Amino acid sequence: MKEVVIGFLGCGNIGCGVWELLQSFNKDIVHRDDVHITIKKMLVRDVNKQRNSPVPRELLTTEPDEVLSDPEITLVAEFMGGEQPATDYMLRALHAGKTVVTANKVALALNWHLLQAAAKENKAGLYYEASVCGAVPIIKTLTEALHANRISCVMGIINGTTNYILTEMMKRGCSYEEVLFDAQRLGLAEPNPSADVEGLDATYKLSIMASLAFHARIPVDKIYRNGITKVTKEDIAYADEMGYVIKLLAIAKRVGNTVEAHVYPTLIPREHMLAGVNGALNGVYIYGHACKEMMLIGRGAGDMPTASAVVSDILQAVTHTQHSYPTFQNTKEPSPEMSFDDDWETEYFIRLSAIDKPGVLSEIAGSFARNRVSIATLMQKGNATPGGRVALVLVTHKAHEMDLRSALRDLQSPDVSVDSMIRVEGRQPS
Ligand code: NAP
Ligand code: HSE
Repeated sequence: MKEVVIGFLGCGNIGCGVWELLQSFNKDIVHRDDVHITIKKMLVRDVNKQRNSPVPRELLTTEPDEVLSDPEITLVAEFMGGEQPATDYMLRALHAGKTVVTANKVALALNWHLLQAAAKENKAGLYYEASVCGAVPIIKTLTEALHANRISCVMGIINGTTNYILTEMMKRGCSYEEVLFDAQRLGLAEPNPSADVEGLDATYKLSIMASLAFHARIPVDKIYRNGITKVTKEDIAYADEMGYVIKLLAIAKRVGNTVEAHVYPTLIPREHMLAGVNGALNGVYIYGHACKEMMLIGRGAGDMPTASAVVSDILQAVTHTQHSYPTFQNTKEPSPEMSFDDDWETEYFIRLSAIDKPGVLSEIAGSFARNRVSIATLMQKGNATPGGRVALVLVTHKAHEMDLRSALRDLQSPDVSVDSMIRVEGRQPS
């Protein structure tokens, strides 16, 4: 039987989950994989802190060297979070020839090139299934199962917190602020939810997914981002009336060597494969030239779902004789053969309020027409008092992003204000 000694960097939600899963599953691992795993040390900030699991106190340390410099520890599992010191500790582990398993999308998305180079140079493994979508096996799907495909689209709901908030807003007809408050009270959203609600968490995950899907480095700063903080209950209600739901989508599409990548709230038709992914679930849609459409759905967060991915990585690392790495040149900069399209084409949902007086509609139509944006539907919602404001909701045909932005700038007049603009992902791409 193979004896493996591992160390943890971090023992919070995920570290405790991994500890528990390894305790409860160790017998199966011994029996199935002929491997016995011992956790020797766990780095934390405060050894006296109350933990979610009864982790033995003597395993905890505040001294990184007790994990990173112990020759008996051959695999380091990182769940500290954040770019630093996590990246430096992982680099130290890799330079010492230790394999690293990480759940940390921030450190990976920002410093993947350094981590991969250190891993290859030292013939160590670098595994990161848990960094994107928790239990959903998106990394192994892209790197192994779909390796025989040219993938042209990877698109998903990859942040559970925002999906929960948008689903509850839709179900309860509540505002963003009300649902966020409840989600924080129930411990479903972080006390500081900004990385989730501003779309940053999804951007890191999309950078990792898209790089693997397109075999090219898609850095975080090439991904256009908007969060969900400005989505209103009115937007959700009007979208529903028109047969759409609103989701925070992370979208990456490749045509030839041109990539568009963005994270933003999106209207999708109710019959879209991603529309039924509700609550805190994650869902990823992939289109490959041979496999065609594919969907993965599951739990993208939480201690046990994330531990499921981490322990699977640990087992893969210790049962394989050779580690493999992504095939593309993993550099800090985007792959040189790729260009990035910031003038993508899509449809747009726009909510305006306008003074109810003659000529306003032609003013609106004129701004769109001058900027080459064609309106597909326009609805007036409710009636204004004389001289008062009325809500107008319109959906455009496909238009260029820059044209649309220019039309909206043109529209700003005392008679008209733009209350919302949300992109529409009309149909399943191919
Ligand atoms: P967490 O509960 O805040 O745990 C972080 C752990 O790291 C704690 O044990 C903390 O020590 C330790 N730590 C942090 N900075 C440290 C430092 N400078 N020195 C020593 N120890 C340090 O976070 P988490 O929710 O477990 O998340 C961990 C990672 O998993 C993050 O990268 C996150 O993005 C990723 N992830 C999380 C989820 C999820 O559902 N939570 C899902 C997928 C991926 P103390 O305990 O002493 O404070
Ligand atoms: N905060 C993330 C989410 C989980 O809500 O999906 C960690 O990746």
